[in-house]
Formats: sequence, C-alpha cells, structure tokens
Amino acid sequence: MFASYARLFTTVCALTSTAAALTPLEVSGKDFVNSETKDRFQIIGVDYQPGGSSGFTSKLDPLSDPDVCLRDAALMQRLGINTIRVYNLEPSLNHDECASIFDAAGIYMILDVSNPLQGGYLDRSAPWTTYSAIYYKQVFGVVEGFKNYDNVLGFFAGNEVINEDATYQAPRYIRAVIRDMKDYIAKNSKRAIPVGYSAADIRDILLDTVHYFECDLKNSTSSRADFFGLNSYSWCGDASYKSAGYDELTEDFTNATIPVFFSEYGCNDVKPRIFTEVQAIYGEEMTQAFSGGLVYEWTQEKNEYGLVEIESSDKVTLLVDYDNFQKQLNKLDIERIMSSNATQANVKAEECRASSIKRKSFYNSWDLPEVPSKVADFIKNGLPDAPSGKFVSVSATTIPQKVYDHTGKEIKDIKFEVKTTANTPSATSGSGSSGTSTGTSSSSTSSESNAASPNGIPSLALGGMGGFFMLLAHLL
Ligand SMILES: *[C@@H]1O[C@H](CO)[C@@H](O)[C@H](O)[C@H]1NC(C)=O
Ligand SMILES: *[C@@H]1O[C@H](CO)[C@@H](O)[C@H](O)[C@H]1NC(C)=O
Ligand SMILES: *[C@@H]1O[C@H](CO)[C@@H](O)[C@H](O)[C@H]1NC(C)=O
Repeated sequence: MFASYARLFTTVCALTSTAAALTPLEVSGKDFVNSETKDRFQIIGVDYQPGGSSGFTSKLDPLSDPDVCLRDAALMQRLGINTIRVYNLEPSLNHDECASIFDAAGIYMILDVSNPLQGGYLDRSAPWTTYSAIYYKQVFGVVEGFKNYDNVLGFFAGNEVINEDATYQAPRYIRAVIRDMKDYIAKNSKRAIPVGYSAADIRDILLDTVHYFECDLKNSTSSRADFFGLNSYSWCGDASYKSAGYDELTEDFTNATIPVFFSEYGCNDVKPRIFTEVQAIYGEEMTQAFSGGLVYEWTQEKNEYGLVEIESSDKVTLLVDYDNFQKQLNKLDIERIMSSNATQANVKAEECRASSIKRKSFYNSWDLPEVPSKVADFIKNGLPDAPSGKFVSVSATTIPQKVYDHTGKEIKDIKFEVKTTANTPSATSGSGSSGTSTGTSSSSTSSESNAASPNGIPSLALGGMGGFFMLLAHLL
C-alpha cells in the first residue's frame, strides 16, 4: 500500500482535491430529498457486488479494495448513475477509501446490514432463533462502520426475508429490526440515516407488505420503515408499461407514504438487455409512485446480469448492456425527475390497522418482539469495540486499468472527476460504437410475479485485484 502511495505522488499530476462531501439525503413524505436544497432525489442506480454474493468473505467486501472502487466509480460516473446498493459488508474492514471515492464520484450508497456468514442474517424460517445479540453485532457493526459517511442514503434491514419459505411471523421480526436499528441510529449517530426493507416481487402480498412496514404504530413510532425497495424482474426485452405489469405497480404504490424504488430490476430473459423500462420508471406517471431504481448488477457473473466484465485485475470490458443502459439514461429529463413536489413531500402515514392487511396468510398484528437485553445495552451505550469510518480526501485521477468497449476497442478517455453534487447522466459520453447495440430478439414479457432474485445464485469470484493504487488519499 505504501509503495503505491509513493509511486502515486510521483505520477499523478496536480488535480483538484476535495474535502467537501455530497449533501446527505433525507426522507420527506414519499420522496427522498436533498437535506439542504429540498430538491427531490430519484435513484439512478446499479447493484454492486463484484464477485457475486459468493465473492464476499470476512477479509474482502465490495467496499474494502480502493483499486477496484476507483475503477468502478470512474466507470459508473461515466455511465451516469448516482447510487449503488451493496449487499454484503464486513464491519471490521476499513471502508474509508471506497466510501470517499464513491462520495467524490457523486454516488450515494444504500447498504444491506446482513451478510450470508454464520450469525450475519435473520433466519426467515425461524427468526426468533437469530434475533439476538450475535446478529446485532453484524447489524450495528455496519451502522457504526458507515454512519459517518454523508453519502450513505440508507440501510436495508432485510432483503427478501418474506418469501415462500418464510414463517408467518417474519414481518414482525423485520419490523423489530427496523425499530432497533432506528433506535440505535437515534442514540449513536449524528445523522438520522433512513432504514428500509427490500422486498421480493410477490405480487399478491406486495400491498400487505408495504402496508405492514409503512404504517404508524403509536406505541413504537421508530419501527416504521423509512423506505421500501422492490426487487422486480417483470419487464423483459421490449415490453410495455402494461405487459410488464408496471401499471399495477404504479397503482399499488401510488398511495404509499414512504419512498418506494426498484432495489433490483433488469430481467435478462432477452439478451442483450435494452432497458426500455428506464423511460417508464422515470416517466411522469411512474415517478408519482416510484423514486427510481437500481439495475441488477454491475459486474458480469455466472448468472449474466453484468454491465461490465472484469477480464483481469487490469482489464475491463464495458458490455453492450452498459451502452444500452447509458443510452436510456441519456434520454432522461433530469431536471424534471429531480424537481420537488410538495404534494408528495407532505404525504402522512396512516395508523397500523389489521383491516389494512388483506391476505389471511399475511401477519396482521404489530405485537413486536421485545429487544433482547444485551441488544438494548448496545443501543444505549453503542456497540463496544466497533470501528467507525471517516472520509479521507480524494483527488481526481485517471484509472490504471485498461478499458475496452464491447467491440474490443480500447477506450482511453476514462476520467475520474471529483464532484460535490450527485452524478448525472451526461449525454456526451458514449463508447464510440454506435447503432449496433440494439437488441434484435423478439419481445418477451411477463406480468407474472418474478419473486426469485438472481442474487442467491453462486457466481465467480474475482481473482486477485493487484494493479497499482492511483488514489491520492490522506487523512483530512
Ligand atoms: C389509493 O387511494 C385512493 C384515494 O383514497 C383510493 O381511491 C384508491 O383505491 C387507493 N389505491 C389503492 C391501490 O389502495
Ligand atoms: C406532484 O405529485 C402529485 C402526486 O403524486 C402528482 O399528481 C402531480 O402531478 C405532481 N406534480 C408534478 C408537477 O409533477
Ligand atoms: C402496541 O400496539 C400494537 C397494535 O395496537 C399491539 O399489538 C401491541 O401489543 C402493542 N405493544 C405494546 C408493547 O403495548
């Protein structure tokens, strides 16, 4: 690490450096807004888990290797996104450089607090067996680790915990985790970082699920979710608003009282993906119900949802899907998408009522489990011996890796620009190869619920990420 710092000081020319960070976002009614300007913020994002879910270990998570983060942040900045979601994190690792790099790129982060290692998640079939201090070392550990980074948009208290294998009681445990996290944040963090839940697209219980988490509970106000993510793969190929069932989703979530967004989207039944759903998601109708979404996912893994292919530690290919997604983003009217809307910002929650839950099979009581006493101690006094991160300064630079477009041509103009406001698509970038990347396959649509997230499928682990370290970082 130190050797590369030395090399860096001799090779990087003077570039802007920043101590300024992105302005934190907050929840206002059913919108995310910038906490200073109160402008609306819609998520234009990508799910980020290089190496796939099996690439995660207790020694390496997606935000612990600055070489990789700098490369990806530069390529994401060029793509035009403003948010990443990261699934699996290890609280004991240092995330300062990666968090600072994404912040400097104008990119917010939504973080899942669970991980797949022993003790790192809530068991959906018997949540009472894992609702314990062991699990909370992971949960509060992630909160401690990330609470000081201004670009943390929010935490997911759970991902697809409610599915076909879940017990009837799962919802009350998830709501308890939201409560405990929000109580922990209120007591131990300077900023009220929002906490939400990410749901599988099981259409017939979607409304019950959002009602269960968004309603106001007089005797436990902190257990209310701040936002709701939906993992949905119902738009495949050149579908339409109707054939993909997006009309139903808009109808379902129009009355939601918290921000709702696609925490995963991007069906790959038809390849290459052409991402025509982008125009629907950010269109006038749908933005009354949704606050954007995140495409699944950044790197190409065995399940073939990638936008980029990591060929080796120093070589990356931007796939056709990257270009196609970028073309869709470049068509968006960002000013309209990000303009504030007082009607939406002033929506109020309704009280929790059993009658708002329609399905008999869905839990309809809010008798939340009591906080285990050790967990209550953590909330009161902070998690002992848990490291918390802080921003380091980042200087703009180029990335050392070689980048190719999908035709094999090298792209030489990849720059990393330090920003102090959210990144936006810029209609000027493009891979140079034009017109060849439109999907030719016939349209295929599915309005069926597509509940199975591809995230569970094992995928290739990345090889060693060598490459030298071009980040100029030092303590503020
Ligand atoms: C949304 O609210 C309106 C007005 O109260 C109501 O007519 C409509 O049925 C609601 N939609 C859903 C899906 O609950
Ligand atoms: C503001 O939001 C409301 C409710 O979603 C919607 O009906 C209205 O069209 C929006 N106004 C603008 C200017 O987008
Ligand atoms: C809080 O209110 C809910 C809903 O009315 C109820 O089911 C629950 O038992 C109450 N909890 C406590 C601790 O009073």
